Amino acid sequence: MTSTEFLSDSPAATEAFAAQWAQSLQPDTAILLKGDLGTGKTTFVRGLVRGLGITDPIRSPTFTLIHEYTIQQPHHLKGLPFFHLDLYRIETPQQLSTLGLDEILERGGIVAIEWAERLELGGTVLTAAQVYEVRLTVQAETGRRITITRGI
Ligand SMILES: Nc1ncnc2c1ncn2[C@@H]1O[C@H](COP(=O)(O)OP(=O)(O)O)[C@@H](O)[C@H]1O
Ligand SMILES: [Mg+2]
Repeated sequence: MTSTEFLSDSPAATEAFAAQWAQSLQPDTAILLKGDLGTGKTTFVRGLVRGLGITDPIRSPTFTLIHEYTIQQPHHLKGLPFFHLDLYRIETPQQLSTLGLDEILERGGIVAIEWAERLELGGTVLTAAQVYEVRLTVQAETGRRITITRGI
């Protein structure tokens, strides 16, 4: 398993890194964001959204759980859906199964999942062709270590 590591020194740097990384993504990809509250998961997703040419303002999906956008760029992803999920409030395998993650993955786009630790509650088989784990940790007030591992 190969890991990529990036040390970010500001929210803007996290966003820019994610926007750049988004250019390398392929269809049918799940991105599992892991890390404590305030480590920068939503900030990272905001960068993904920007990198994918999506101009809608992104809202935290904490209450609605799922937001869907349409990818505008790069060319090889254009028109595919981008889903932003936040599993913070998920507490049981039943709640997890009602999300319809299977159907979301079947759409063949990019799915970014905050609090992906909740998937370990069970009952979820990630069928995406590519799976990445993005782990964020706090290094200092504005320092963040971002570790991306492929093929979890
Ligand atoms: N290098 C950094 N990268 C990302 N966020 C940072 C960084 N430094 C400070 N922050 C701050 O940390 C918080 C991250 O919030 P957010 O992205 O919502 O985290 P999460 O979704 O993990 O709870 C924001 O207030 C942001 O301004
Ligand atoms: Mg968040």
